[in-house]
Amino acid sequence: MGMLDGKVALVTGAGRGIGREEAIQMAKAGCKIVVNDLGGQHDGTGTGKVADEVVAEIVKNGGKAIANYDSVTDYEKAKGMIDQAVAEFGTLDIVVNNAGFLRDKMIFNMEESDWDLIMGVHLKGVFNLSRHFGGWLRQEIKAGRRTEKGRIMNTSSMVGMFGNVGQSNYGAAKSGIAMFTNTIARELRKYATCNTIIPNAGTRMTIDSMPDPDGAAKRMNTMNKSGMVAMSPKHFPPLVVFLASDAAENITGHIFLMMADICTVFKGWEVVKTINNNGAAFTPEILAERVDSELLKDFPKIKHIAEEYGNIYQR
Ligand code: NAI
Repeated sequence: MGMLDGKVALVTGAGRGIGREEAIQMAKAGCKIVVNDLGGQHDGTGTGKVADEVVAEIVKNGGKAIANYDSVTDYEKAKGMIDQAVAEFGTLDIVVNNAGFLRDKMIFNMEESDWDLIMGVHLKGVFNLSRHFGGWLRQEIKAGRRTEKGRIMNTSSMVGMFGNVGQSNYGAAKSGIAMFTNTIARELRKYATCNTIIPNAGTRMTIDSMPDPDGAAKRMNTMNKSGMVAMSPKHFPPLVVFLASDAAENITGHIFLMMADICTVFKGWEVVKTINNNGAAFTPEILAERVDSELLKDFPKIKHIAEEYGNIYQR
């Protein structure tokens, strides 16, 4: 008996990398899958049918899956993905928004297209699917045709939590996805659980798309000192299977990270300190007196990714 027996999921960008492993592990847990993938290059150009390979693997292992080759950036085609799942499998319970690519550049070199394409595939893609699936779930539950809440999982990144040089477009989109997801978790509370999920794995995105002058990225998928291939994309989908399952029906509005042998929960923006001007509006002069010496006094250091997690590949 699998944790997802009888359920139906749509996983976007599931032809490769993390999405592929999510689709395969969800299918092993008993879920029927719509494998979406546009199938293009690592910079988002081109198209292809990589989704077929994942469908074939799932079917070979005794599971049920169908392919979809459309782009998550297209509002109407995103609706078509939901319709396809319902037409083929009778329902849709889970949407994992995973599709994406990188256009890394320093802000002073970034083209308008680098910004627009990254916002399109990450932020708008997540909106498109969440909008259509959230609307469909609400309609089905209100009409009494279903009782169970759906599951929406939206993929962010450590870059969206900590920032990273050369990734202002990607960081903004991934940060936006986390806040978008926390917001729709409230709006859809009667119809779906909505969580942000953060992977970290050696895939085409991390190994092939980034500058790798000292070969560190190429060593990601080798074994670390504790005998674990820490960056294998296979370690992440257990989080997705759990959140998709009935065991997680009350878990919503959270930001989870999983990689190697660790699982983290983040808290979003929080107030660090407040100063009060006792009933009068602040003036620039009062701010000059009090911001540095009082409001920012003992301000906690903003960490970078490596300071938080150390060298995950080799430990
Ligand atoms: P990947 O490049 O191996 O796979 C991404 C897939 O998305 C590709 O097969 C690609 O064809 C597909 N895709 C791209 N644009 C699409 C579109 N418009 N419509 C449908 N499919 C499209 O990358 P990876 O590493 O598996 O990334 C998956 C997700 O995880 C992305 O959202 C990425 O930003 C996120 N992520 C990955 C991390 C990592 O360490 N690999 C870290 C943090 C987040």
